[in-house]
Amino acid sequence: MSYAHITGWGKCIPPARISNDEISQLVDTNDEWITSRTGIKSRRVSHVSTAELATVAAKHAIACAGIDAKDIDLVLLATCTPSTMVANTASLVQKNIGAIGAAAMDTNAACSGFLYAMQAATAQIQAGMIKKAVVIAAERMTWYVNWDRRDSAVLFGDGAGAVVLEAADTPAGLLGTKTGCDSEDRDILHITNFGSDIDKYSPAGPSDLLFEGREIFKRAVKGMSEACDDVLTQANLSLDEIDVLVPHQANLRIIQAIQHRLKVDDEKVMVNIGEYGNTSAATIAIALCEAVEQGLIKPHANIMSAAFGAGLTWAASYIKWGDRVKPIAISDATLPPCEQSGLELVAAAAAACKQ
Ligand code: UT7
Repeated sequence: MSYAHITGWGKCIPPARISNDEISQLVDTNDEWITSRTGIKSRRVSHVSTAELATVAAKHAIACAGIDAKDIDLVLLATCTPSTMVANTASLVQKNIGAIGAAAMDTNAACSGFLYAMQAATAQIQAGMIKKAVVIAAERMTWYVNWDRRDSAVLFGDGAGAVVLEAADTPAGLLGTKTGCDSEDRDILHITNFGSDIDKYSPAGPSDLLFEGREIFKRAVKGMSEACDDVLTQANLSLDEIDVLVPHQANLRIIQAIQHRLKVDDEKVMVNIGEYGNTSAATIAIALCEAVEQGLIKPHANIMSAAFGAGLTWAASYIKWGDRVKPIAISDATLPPCEQSGLELVAAAAAACKQ
């Protein structure tokens, strides 16, 4: 039996941010409401493409793993905000990182995308089809945001995270996983006017992110908790054996509800939603990376992760960390400098939304 160890991790956080006070200049909201209802204090706005965010995150993960990009067999990019559809965005990332000849594929399971992609890449390694993969989650969610809609505008942000997976003989990496989708309710979270269903010769206006927040909230707690229960049973793991919980960062109250259902102590839960908001597929990839950087993840840690998103997709994973929590090397990859503030970056889109 082969396993897929996580041997590298990296992230790319775009520098421009919008605080709650600043977003209150765009929509009718305030810091007190956003903080108490969501836990979010600020979110990042990217001045570069999804592909560039993904490239920088992947370069950090590859350096961390100490591998040569030429040896990578698969570049798997989870995103619902691809830079380009044809050719896919993963092919540009493959080119940028120098993973010459590697398979390159985008995958979209919205906020569950990273765990879906981890499952797919791990399965290929376990089946002996490939030896090394880089799994990336990168999003520019602010591209979708309607700055006139306060329920969703305050929630989303941009960013990317990545891991390198390598074949190994000892049990670590993704050891338990469950993915699914409640498609009956796919309409309660969706993007309008986007995709080949629209009449491209008389488009119906800009796309818009629509959702029923309360309904999704309830389903997210139930869906993620039940998926975690299934994975714990599958992996024959008890609740007190969980060392770290790395949940999707959609709402602090959702995270706390899951934490309480799983009876996990505060100090074992990775939370960074305050800084970044909901970066869709990228939340878990970034949070996993920061959990290692902050020393929350120790060698051989048992990590539970769960996600929920449009579709309505859901996923839970049990990840066993390997021996190493220190990078083998550090990449100097960075984004180009950003001359504008977060508010300046979204000013044109915000003005268009008001018309
Ligand atoms: O990753 C998957 C996608 N994630 C999600 O879809 C998030 C899931 N849902 C949520 O996180 C929460 O439901 C929200 C944060 C979106 C909303 O929180 P809530 O506690 O469920 O609020 P609500 O929708 O029930 O709205 C309560 C009130 C309403 O006013 P009234 O009708 O009580 O007068 C809203 O109009 O809060 C109002 N409201 C706001 N007020 C200030 C909604 N958004 C805002 C806002 N600022 N940004």
